[in-house]
Amino acid sequence: MPNAMITGWGKCLPPAALTNHDLATFMDTNDEWIYSRTGIKQRYISHVDTSALATLAAKRALACAGLKGSDIDMIILGTATPDTLVPNIAATVQAEIGAECAALDINAACSGFLYGLGLATAQIRSGQYKRILVIGAERLAFYLDWSRRDTAVLFGDGAGAVVVEATEQDVGVKAYELNNDPEGREILKTTFGTQMDRLDAESLDFFLQFDGREIFKRAIAGMGGLSQKVLTKLDMTSDDIDIVIPHQANVRIIDTLISKMKIPAEKAFKNIENYGNTSAATVPIALCDALEQGRIKPGQNILTCAFGAGLTSAAMMIKWGERVTPINECDEELPACDKTALEIIEKSVKYFLSKAEKEQA
Ligand SMILES: CC(C)(COP(=O)(O)OP(=O)(O)OC[C@H]1O[C@@H](n2cnc3c(N)ncnc32)[C@H](O)[C@@H]1OP(=O)(O)O)[C@@H](O)C(=O)NCCC(=O)NCCS
Repeated sequence: MPNAMITGWGKCLPPAALTNHDLATFMDTNDEWIYSRTGIKQRYISHVDTSALATLAAKRALACAGLKGSDIDMIILGTATPDTLVPNIAATVQAEIGAECAALDINAACSGFLYGLGLATAQIRSGQYKRILVIGAERLAFYLDWSRRDTAVLFGDGAGAVVVEATEQDVGVKAYELNNDPEGREILKTTFGTQMDRLDAESLDFFLQFDGREIFKRAIAGMGGLSQKVLTKLDMTSDDIDIVIPHQANVRIIDTLISKMKIPAEKAFKNIENYGNTSAATVPIALCDALEQGRIKPGQNILTCAFGAGLTSAAMMIKWGERVTPINECDEELPACDKTALEIIEKSVKYFLSKAEKEQA
């Protein structure tokens, strides 16, 4: 049975950074609160759609693997913020990279990338496909109500992608577990969808709603439980893990998870400070950053895990191959952005602040 090995990786962050200080210009918050409670200093706000972020991340991953779009057999794109629901945006990526293949979006919220990598692994192990592009891409600002300081400070936009290839070597995805806890559906949600009444303006007023404390607890239990299952499946212990690439939702969630699993703190990779929570994109972006920083060495055991709305959770063990540097680079960039992050969100901020004022009056 072939193994599924990551041979290419790429990320795409839009250029406009929104700092905690920027948020404090229109919201009752401050850098100290946000950083100490979440580990976040800034996040990026995109001036282009989710598919454009996904496409550039995909092109960078293809170059890294030394492949062309036409080499790809399937595209799986994890997103909860597609530019369009119909058609799916994996199709947009497909058109942009010139692939002739199967293409689908999946929505497992913040676990979307790892769900996609699990499905890709199964396709490769079955012998159906040899080269699959797995992408996590989000434009979370779409769901944010800028008058809600408990949620608006947490999220950011971005994309990450990997190329997974069939190999006979004993490397790649060794084991994974995916789960969903439907009891937690209500604690992290948005009303966006066909339940909205297109003829009623109020119904179109959707935003991300959640119970932060409850999610915090369930995230640790979900990721910790599945990670332990993966270790048991592989007859491994925490000592065998070289690096952990967790979903980046809150630095305190990562620290608590790592300490509960008795993994040394320095083995946890964290980059939430720069990006906030980019949902399905956090894991592939973190993987790219870890590789760029030389944190991943040939043959290492990487534990990666995530959780998100649903409440979905995922955990996976990857044995890295030999190559830790790209074969080629892609020199394309996003279209230039002539606005600051505050300017990009200005209209939306005005709308939500005035709505909140009216509700309080
Ligand atoms: C959201 C989260 C950061 C809140 O942290 P917390 O330590 O639990 O903070 P609390 O909710 O207890 O709020 C503490 C106080 O800070 C205030 N506060 C909330 N957001 C604030 C902000 N941005 N700035 C300043 N104060 C804020 C609250 O109003 C509350 O004030 P009060 O004590 O006067 O009522 C944390 O619960 C979390 O990260 N949860 C999970 C994240 C998540 O769900 N991510 C998405 C899923 S992938």
